Amino acid sequence: KLAPQDAAEAFAPSNIALCKYWGKRDAELNLPINNSLSVSLGHLGTRTRLESAPDGTDRVYLNGVEQAQDQPFAAKLLAFVELFRAGRALPVHVHTENNIPTAAGLASSASGFAALTLALDRWLQLGLAPEVLSAFARMGSGSACRSLFEGFVEWRDGIHDDGMDSHGVPIPARWPGLQIGLVKVATGEKAVGSRAGMQRTIETAHLYQSWPLQAAADLEKLHQAIASRDFALLGQTAEQNALSMHATMIASWPPLLYWQPESVAAMQRVWQLREAGLAVYFTMDAGPNLKLLFEVQDRPAVEAAFPGLEVVAPFGD
Ligand code: PMV
Repeated sequence: KLAPQDAAEAFAPSNIALCKYWGKRDAELNLPINNSLSVSLGHLGTRTRLESAPDGTDRVYLNGVEQAQDQPFAAKLLAFVELFRAGRALPVHVHTENNIPTAAGLASSASGFAALTLALDRWLQLGLAPEVLSAFARMGSGSACRSLFEGFVEWRDGIHDDGMDSHGVPIPARWPGLQIGLVKVATGEKAVGSRAGMQRTIETAHLYQSWPLQAAADLEKLHQAIASRDFALLGQTAEQNALSMHATMIASWPPLLYWQPESVAAMQRVWQLREAGLAVYFTMDAGPNLKLLFEVQDRPAVEAAFPGLEVVAPFGD
């Protein structure tokens, strides 16, 4: 029997993949084709508060504004709550606050579903293990399973059809001084979402066949880079991994190009900086924005080249 608290609250960080998740082997359960590896963004993320609804009606608020239930945000969120309520009459008010700067061009679905999962566990007093919570969060949004943990996290694809072995696993390593710079480039027309993008890539790009091999090789290198604090290896691997993923997108039909001219200009600026001796690399998700990777001693030089850069220190420095 579920015993909801009057209220419960949880926070989960956003995360950036250094080895990307691209492609589902099960579209309903969000089971991935490849393992991925990310770093969580510390204090940047989502805080979610659940309240047993005094008015007997589900309500969803985003940054204080009530969301219509026929719109995707509230609809997806309440469908996820339903996984836990399983038909029981437990009306809830969901308050979601994102502290991710809107100008940063970061998706909030990963931290959002991770925070919601944690809050549901507390609200219903379930006491589920972190891996189980991570597997649940994955069903909301694949990358959310990595946001259950701080620091570096590997999402293992798993072998079971029920997906309960497909969840985030924290990597016990810290990297003080590691910095992530969020480069928001001009926003173009509305992008194709990750679910539709993955499906199109798998169905139409022969190049996608090489992706699992690329991801497996990159995952190895990232583990090695993290274990030996080899920043050049970390940066190179992350950048090549992101570009390999984008290559499969571009090879789809109709073509899937998330880049804007400003994205390419920013990539070229990164390459120029590297040629001039600065250790800075980038990664990109299913959108036009770049995430820069560098170390704290190079922050002034990187900020000089990218005015207005939003900088996050995942390990809190
Ligand atoms: O979790 P989703 O369905 O939003 O997919 C995330 C896909 C990428 O951001 C492109 C890669 C990743 O691993 O985060």
